Amino acid sequence: MKKAFKLKRGSIIVVTDNGWGDTGKGKIVDVLSSSADMAIRYNGGPNAGHTVKTDQGTFVFHGLPSGILHKSVLNILSTGVVVNPLSLAKEITTAQKQGVAITPKNFLIEKTAHMIMPWHTKRDSLVEKARGKISIGTTGQGIGPTYADRALRQGLRAGDLLLRNFEEVFLEELSWQEKLISVMDNNSKKHFDKKKLLSDLKKAQSILKPFVSNVLPIIHLYQKSGKTIIGEAGQGALLDLDLGGYPFVTSSNPGVAGFLKATGIHYKKITKVYGVTKAYTTRVGQGPMPTELSGKIGEYLQTKGNEVGATTGRKRRCGWFDAVAMKKGLQIVGADEIVLTKSDILDELSEIKICVAYDFGGKRYKELPDTDPLFMQKAKPIYETLAGWKANTSGVTSFADLPKNARNYILFIEKLLGVPISIISTGPKRDETIFR
Ligand code: IMO
Ligand code: MG
Repeated sequence: MKKAFKLKRGSIIVVTDNGWGDTGKGKIVDVLSSSADMAIRYNGGPNAGHTVKTDQGTFVFHGLPSGILHKSVLNILSTGVVVNPLSLAKEITTAQKQGVAITPKNFLIEKTAHMIMPWHTKRDSLVEKARGKISIGTTGQGIGPTYADRALRQGLRAGDLLLRNFEEVFLEELSWQEKLISVMDNNSKKHFDKKKLLSDLKKAQSILKPFVSNVLPIIHLYQKSGKTIIGEAGQGALLDLDLGGYPFVTSSNPGVAGFLKATGIHYKKITKVYGVTKAYTTRVGQGPMPTELSGKIGEYLQTKGNEVGATTGRKRRCGWFDAVAMKKGLQIVGADEIVLTKSDILDELSEIKICVAYDFGGKRYKELPDTDPLFMQKAKPIYETLAGWKANTSGVTSFADLPKNARNYILFIEKLLGVPISIISTGPKRDETIFR
C-alpha cells in the first residue's frame, strides 16, 4: 500500500483557488485535514459550495469548514467569514443526522464574524433585479450587503447571539433595515414576518450558541504550539474584491491576504499556499470569460464535469484552460504550488486546447496587465492544441501511471504557469489523488 500523504507537523497551509471558484477546494481541504489539527474557513459565506465525497456519503458544505469530517480537527469559522445563522443551524443538524459529530470540541465560530440576516438576502436580490442587464449574477446569499454593513460598522455579529437581550438588539436592527428596504422596494408594505423570523432565529440561536466563542486566541495558541493548520478559501482569485475583475467579483479576499486578515497570523508563518486550479476553466455568474465554449465541447465539459453550481443550481460556463487568467490568479492569491483538479474529465477528448495568450487589438498578451473586465471582454484567446489521451484516468494515484499525453498536458500547464503542480486530483474521492 502507498504511504498516506502527511503534512509536516506545525505547517500552516492555505488552500485557495486561482480561478473563478468551484475548483474542488472542499475535497483538497478534506484530504489534507487528515493530518491537520485545525481547519479555518477565512472568507466568504454560504455563497461557497464545497463538496466532499467519502464512504460516509457526499456532503456539500456551504457554511461548515471542509475539515469537519475529521474528528480530531478543530474547525473554525473565523472573523472575515459571513455566517447565516438560519442556514448554518440547518446545515449542522443535517450533517449531524448524517452521522457527523459536530460539538464545540471540533467546531467553533469566532464571535466577531458578521451575520447574514434575511434583509441582506432581500437587499441582494432587490439590487440584482434593479440592475437588470448589468447585474453581477450573485449567488443571492446576501454576501455583498452583509460585507457592506460590516464596512459601515453596522449589523449583527455571531457574538450577539450570546447577548441576554439578543431579541431587543435584533428587533432594533430589523426596524431600521425594514425602513431601508421599504425605500428600496415600495411594492411591498410588509417585508418580514417578525414573529416567524424571531422564532426561527431563536431556534437557530439555541443550536449555534454553544459554538460561538473568542476563537482568535485559540488560533494563536495552536500556531504557537506547533499545531498543523489549514486555511480554506471560499471563491477564487479572479473573484477577489480588490484584485479580481471588478465589479464581477465577490465581497471578500479569497487569497492569502484573506487568511492573514481573518487569523492575525504573521505572514512569515505561512508554510505554503496551494492554488487549486481546474484542468479546464469554468465560471458562474456574469463577467467576461475569454475561453468560454458554447458548442459541443462546452456541453461535454458541463455534463461530464457535472458543472452545476452547488449553491445555486446554475449551470456553470465552461471553456478551455485559460493559462493567462490562471497566471494572474496565481499572483493574486499568492500561490506557491498548484493542485490540479478534474483532469480526468478531459479523458474522452481527442484534442485539447489551452489558451496560452490573448490577442487584444492585434497585440499578443501572455500575461494580463490587470483583471479589467473591459480588457478581458475584448481579448481573443490564442490557443495551442495538444493531443488528448483517450483513456480512463479517473482514480489514478500515481503520476507515472497517467498516459503520456495526460502527463504532457499537465507538464505543459506547469510550464506555462511557472509554478509546480504538486497535487493532482483524478476524481472526487479522497484516494483519487496524486501527490507528486
Ligand atoms: P466556491 O467557494 C464560484 C460568484 C457568483 C458571482 C460573484 C458574486 O464554491 O468556489 P456573491 O454571491 O459572492 O456576491 O457573487 O461571485 N461566486 C462564486 N463562483 N464559486 C463560488 O464559491 C462562488 N461564490 C460566489 O456567481 O459571479
Ligand atoms: Mg463551489
